[in-house]
Amino acid sequence: MDIELVGRALRTLPDEADDDHPYRTGPWRPQHEEWHVDTLDLVAGELPDDLDGLYLRNTENPVHLPIKAYHPFDGDGMVHAVGFQDGRAWYRNRFVRTAGFAAEQEAGRSLWAGIAESPNVAERPAVRPDGWGARGRMKDASSTDVVVHAGHAVTSFWQCGDLYRLDPLTLDTVGATSWDGWFPPAGVSAHTKVDEATGELFFFGYGLEAPYLHYGVVDAENRLVHHTPVPLPGPRLPHDMAFTAEHVILNAFPMYWDQRLLDKGHFALAMHDEPSRFAVIPKRGGVDDIRWFEADPTYVLHFTNAYEDGDEVVLEGFYQESPMPTPDVGDDMWMFRYLALDWMRTRLHRWRFDLRTGATYEEHIRDEYTEFGIINPTVAGRRHRYVHAATGKPGWFLFDGVVTHDVETGADARLRLPEGVYCSEVGVAPKVGGTAEDDAYLVTLTTDVANDVSECWVLDAAVVTAGPVARLRLPQRISSGTHATWAPGPAIPGW
Ligand SMILES: [Fe+2]
Repeated sequence: MDIELVGRALRTLPDEADDDHPYRTGPWRPQHEEWHVDTLDLVAGELPDDLDGLYLRNTENPVHLPIKAYHPFDGDGMVHAVGFQDGRAWYRNRFVRTAGFAAEQEAGRSLWAGIAESPNVAERPAVRPDGWGARGRMKDASSTDVVVHAGHAVTSFWQCGDLYRLDPLTLDTVGATSWDGWFPPAGVSAHTKVDEATGELFFFGYGLEAPYLHYGVVDAENRLVHHTPVPLPGPRLPHDMAFTAEHVILNAFPMYWDQRLLDKGHFALAMHDEPSRFAVIPKRGGVDDIRWFEADPTYVLHFTNAYEDGDEVVLEGFYQESPMPTPDVGDDMWMFRYLALDWMRTRLHRWRFDLRTGATYEEHIRDEYTEFGIINPTVAGRRHRYVHAATGKPGWFLFDGVVTHDVETGADARLRLPEGVYCSEVGVAPKVGGTAEDDAYLVTLTTDVANDVSECWVLDAAVVTAGPVARLRLPQRISSGTHATWAPGPAIPGW
């Protein structure tokens, strides 16, 4: 293992031994080093020769103390990459050089208020007012999601912000995206969607100003080819979207900011007495083409897929039984109540929208609490059979296992990680030359606190119960993180 330390960010956080924050210690201990390893050491198993491409994972990785209260969604974006090429695996990790990260490196401290802090500058004159996103006045950390589109890795932020483009091989930040010098004024949300069949990228952005939601399409050459308002009655908080062969599906759930408090500058969530609403829109459709469907009230962080079935549009995702959880925890954990799968009670669910009648049919398709479900990207927008999801450590934003849901038969296959070992959202890597949906590998990064190591695990998607077919050692224990993606080698320029 030829290890090169390629960078080190200025860090003002205390050492882990002097820190007691639950999401800056243990499996969430951030790092400030950037590494390049040309060939990762194999700890166990063998690297398959039909694995070719790039796994990328974004991470909330803070380097400074917050102004007052740190929430893990405030951490600076750090992307980890493992490339599988010619029978070997290489690794890099780099911070996303956002404008906010650069300014705080220069200042040597946090300049913006985080999600759990009041963004009211009048209360805290030291806080910069020039933040980004739906909530305004926040640092755009670009730490939530990552996809590969038009030859670049593209990171994004859950409260909307810029789309940062990174070189997918070096992870150097190229810069914030614009299309012919233009970018949506309200920013773009995390969970842009790439359709590998067409090379298109679908995106949405939401904010405090009417019409409150926009949807757009970027083509395979990174040209904006469609952008339309999706008018809502007020500000809502969509987190994800879905696409089929013909349509995109946006949403307006009844959990959103309390307007009375919002008028006073406070961003407090409330569950409103109204249904969930889904907008089904032809991919290049405008305002007049939007079909709205109503469904049981809930909140959904993530959808797995959507597809057409005759006159119906079918959507699958993780329904929250308890969108506003009230766990019996002390003050120190209360601000993290929206993070644990067992508190939100997230269950795989299917909605069917009948385009002829306007009716919605819906059903739970699992009782177990799972989330962060990923499908083989080659079936995106078409009927899928397998969802590879995560199980959560009770009470924590930590993944302690992988479950493959066969949504055709109802069978589940589980891999439980050893105690104290956590994994990340999987990337589904179709086998080179594979034809079946489960001719694929699952790639994930682990954080093993007890042994103070991290590894990259490769699982066979068809038999996750068998455990990893290959385990590779990373140069340093990495922090737990959020979203990940897989890009086949041919999608990477210069591969
Ligand atoms: Fe997400």
